[in-house]
Amino acid sequence: MLPEPEAAALAASRALIERIRAEVKANGDWIGFSRYMELALYAPGLGYYAGGSAKLGAPGDFATAPELGTLFARTLARQVAALLQPGEAILEFGAGSGALAEALVGELSQENYLILETSPELRARQEARLGGRARWVEQLPARFRGVMLANEVADAMPVHALAWRENRILERGVDETLSWAERPASGELLAAARRLEVPVPYESEIGLVGRAWMKLLAARLERGALLVIDYGFPQREYYHPQRATGTLMCHYRHRSHGDVFFHPGLQDITAHVDFSALAQAAREGGLDVLGFANQAQFLVNCGITEVLEREDAADAARYAPRAAEAQKLLSPAEMGELFKVLAVGRGVQRPLLGFASGDRSHTL
Ligand SMILES: C[S@@+](CC[C@H](N)C(=O)[O-])C[C@H]1O[C@@H](n2cnc3c(N)ncnc32)[C@H](O)[C@@H]1O
Repeated sequence: MLPEPEAAALAASRALIERIRAEVKANGDWIGFSRYMELALYAPGLGYYAGGSAKLGAPGDFATAPELGTLFARTLARQVAALLQPGEAILEFGAGSGALAEALVGELSQENYLILETSPELRARQEARLGGRARWVEQLPARFRGVMLANEVADAMPVHALAWRENRILERGVDETLSWAERPASGELLAAARRLEVPVPYESEIGLVGRAWMKLLAARLERGALLVIDYGFPQREYYHPQRATGTLMCHYRHRSHGDVFFHPGLQDITAHVDFSALAQAAREGGLDVLGFANQAQFLVNCGITEVLEREDAADAARYAPRAAEAQKLLSPAEMGELFKVLAVGRGVQRPLLGFASGDRSHTL
């Protein structure tokens, strides 16, 4: 049983349901899942990322690597420092609570730290935490040189939901009762679905929004790299015959479940990331794939053990939480294997520090 939300939260969720229903009705009693996910997460004032709930950390719904402590950021800083040329900037997408930005600015003494955050509520929190140490931008700069970072942002982008059945491919969507309803897939979505080899019956997701995002970044990145850190797989594993019910996952008060219609606006809805599709979009946009590895391999290559060794092991009160953090970041049972790092860029020499050993770009 999932915990019941408080009355005010329930009222906000009901208002969002009405907002969604009105749109479903106006659209002929159906909207695609991608639009539903967009409204559930980002509808102004009511969507999960637009509303006032805690979201990240212990009082919220999920914990990300930068929320565990500063070990992740201090290790990532080594890769970022190696990529940056004098005068270049860092641009972080979806900075959450601002934890990664705070630690990176401190570690790198970086003066040119930009944040692009789509959630006004999280942006206000970031501004309160970081003050003048970062600069917020409303949209992607027309031209950018430096390092772009997206930690657990790609999984929060709306995805289309598909069903492959005997002789037909359907787009899964939502009707007025807020239940699943299917329509024949068409256009770009159908073409993308046809390119995948899956057994039938099969259900999964396709991230057209993520691909478009990557293409836009590719067009704006003059020199430098983008690091996408998230949970997901290369295409062959993503659309594996055994993953026949897809990757949609909801997070509510640190519990994960699959009911995407549970109190819309009060829970996070995510999909795993198809890293092959992102890499392909980057290539089509003229970028090079610079590396792909699981998070454990990437952090070890970047020297997480040396960063940890800087802590005084004799000071157990300080060392024990850092060691526990390392364990969480690196263990294959936690974030070490499921989380991946994809680096793409332009005008950057390979190999990158984080992919010096165990680069799996060839699996994309
Ligand atoms: C799961 S949170 C991760 C927050 C933070 N990066 C972390 O690791 O703790 C997802 C973040 O991405 C933001 N976001 C979603 N889509 C975005 C987009 N297209 N551009 C920028 N930020 C986005 C959300 O508002 C939120 O801050």
